[in-house]
Amino acid sequence: MPSIPTGKPLLDTALGMRQNTPPIWIMRQAGRYLPEYRAVREKAGSFLDLCFTPEYATEVTLQPLRRFDLDAAILFSDILVIPHALGQTVRFAAGEGPILEPLDAKAIANLTPEKALEELAPVFEALDRIKSALDASKTLIGFCGAPWTVATYMLGGRGSPDQAAARLFALHAPEAFAALMDILVEVSARYLVAQFKAGADIVQIFESWALNLDEDAFAQYVIGPNARIVERVRKEIPDAPVIGFPRGAAGLISRYAAATEVNVVGLDFSMPVAFANKMLPETLAVQGNLDPLRVVAGGRQMEARARAIVDGFKNRPHIFNLGHGITPQTPIENVEALIKTIKQ
Ligand code: CP3
Repeated sequence: MPSIPTGKPLLDTALGMRQNTPPIWIMRQAGRYLPEYRAVREKAGSFLDLCFTPEYATEVTLQPLRRFDLDAAILFSDILVIPHALGQTVRFAAGEGPILEPLDAKAIANLTPEKALEELAPVFEALDRIKSALDASKTLIGFCGAPWTVATYMLGGRGSPDQAAARLFALHAPEAFAALMDILVEVSARYLVAQFKAGADIVQIFESWALNLDEDAFAQYVIGPNARIVERVRKEIPDAPVIGFPRGAAGLISRYAAATEVNVVGLDFSMPVAFANKMLPETLAVQGNLDPLRVVAGGRQMEARARAIVDGFKNRPHIFNLGHGITPQTPIENVEALIKTIKQ
């Protein structure tokens, strides 16, 4: 059945309605490359205080839309508010990224899923405020981290290039690992349902560490939990629109898309455009996939590659985005030039 346009071009694209000009948002569009973000960040104190103060979270969510012609706002928060809400100690050290007290099997049993949604109440208040302030043509994106990606931080205690701590834990202690994944599936699904109820139009599941997994591990850690979250959310919110972003899925992208039934597949920048077109049904929306460093460098190489991506996806619903988050050293004028290139 063809969908009825919602008046929000980005949401329409996600629902399968191709636009002549692709709508655009930028992963990590609120962040340190903006001086107005750095000012609020300083005022808020800690990063978690910024996430959990609705007034501040609303303000930084809206900042990039005041500057740029973007089609969506993404809730300002972090994927690691879930471990925090489950009772794990999480802190964000300046210049070091997130640091968590790594979990063992006993600590997994002591997590507090029953309290998590209450802890996250300020997020829902922020969504409500953002929704009221947002123009009706703009899409409001909610999000969570996918269970495997969140588990890599919960088990490893910090980011790592190969996620070896979590991969070994899953192999050494399969039962404790499965218990952790079950908790994350259930809490993430309830968290996304609550985000829809608070005003989100669509949600993105960030599976930032879908790379470094063999096909069996990919099926078990990535596809299974992502599919269960989507199914669980749609039990309460029928047809809830979902973007899946399995960064590094490579040749497993079509299996991910088919099994999870997401509306949009986010493509990282190493995914060749022609390969994605071959692997994914033409009616399925894609999102991506410019290398963020091309925006740091800017100029003609950026514009040429952005045009090649738009051209490559012109026969299918396409949401323009980077292939990963924008980096702090990105010059603002390059973001302006990129958006102008897409909107022309
Ligand atoms: O996109 C947005 O503008 C919304 C906000 C958002 C943040 N983090 C804010 C943030 C979103 C959607 C995220 C997702 C997130 N967080 C992911 C998945 C996306 C990805 O990039 O792969 C991951 C893996 C995290 C975990 C995380 N949070 C890391 C590894 C770091 C440190 C590295 C870094 O980029 O600084 C964070 C901190 C963080 N999250 C910052 C911001 C703006 C910077 C912290 C600061 O301002 O001091």
